[in-house]
Amino acid sequence: MIDLKNVTFSYDNKMIINNLSLNIKKGDKIGIMGESGSGKSTLLKLLAGLYRAESGTVTVDGETEPEAISRKVSVVMQSPMLLPLSIYDNITMGHKYPDSQVERVVKMARLSNWIETLPDGLNTYLGDRADELSGGQAQRIAIARAMCKDSEVLLLDEPASALDSENSKSVLEAIMDYAADKTVVHVTHQAQHLEGYTRIYSLRDGELI
Ligand SMILES: Nc1ncnc2c1ncn2[C@@H]1O[C@H](COP(=O)(O)OP(=O)(O)OP(=O)(O)O)[C@@H](O)[C@H]1O
Ligand SMILES: [Mg+2]
Repeated sequence: MIDLKNVTFSYDNKMIINNLSLNIKKGDKIGIMGESGSGKSTLLKLLAGLYRAESGTVTVDGETEPEAISRKVSVVMQSPMLLPLSIYDNITMGHKYPDSQVERVVKMARLSNWIETLPDGLNTYLGDRADELSGGQAQRIAIARAMCKDSEVLLLDEPASALDSENSKSVLEAIMDYAADKTVVHVTHQAQHLEGYTRIYSLRDGELI
């Protein structure tokens, strides 16, 4: 499902990913740990088709072109990007999904209680208020967005970092239920979030150990 062959990536002249190879089978759950600044988010962006490898090949779900890869993966980035649109549009990103699907991901991302308190509910316009959301609210919208896109590959970069421990546990459990048959790559500093995973790597000096 995911194959990296001799992948190298640098910012300016600073090499972050060094001749890295990795093969992930359909349905595998892969954890990536490593020190702050070791390149975990950079690696995830390569897997998400947001960056192009300097050399080597990145293949995700049969695609090798970054733009095609990005259409085939669902991603929760470390700092979620919200758009000046309604909560609904931030979740669906302009695509048409059945209402039942949107309702399901709102529940799974544990957004229901908060959204019920808003007079316009899911239609609440974030607009200039995107900044007023708590980090956890923004993160849960990003999680709902990724689940709604429903790709075979789910990439998670510290998806629960802004949630309190109870919410984080419940959201991560919901993600794992949802992703039971999907291929997951999950970057985190918290080993307890990777229980039951197929393999856990540490990224160090641009290589996976
Ligand atoms: N856009 C960029 N331009 C230049 N350097 C960058 C850029 N993004 C990240 N870096 C640098 O590349 C290195 C790896 O960054 P990255 O964000 O991938 O680390 P990380 O492992 O995700 O860290 P953290 O655990 O803190 O999220 C860091 O030294 C960082 O400063
Ligand atoms: Mg990071």
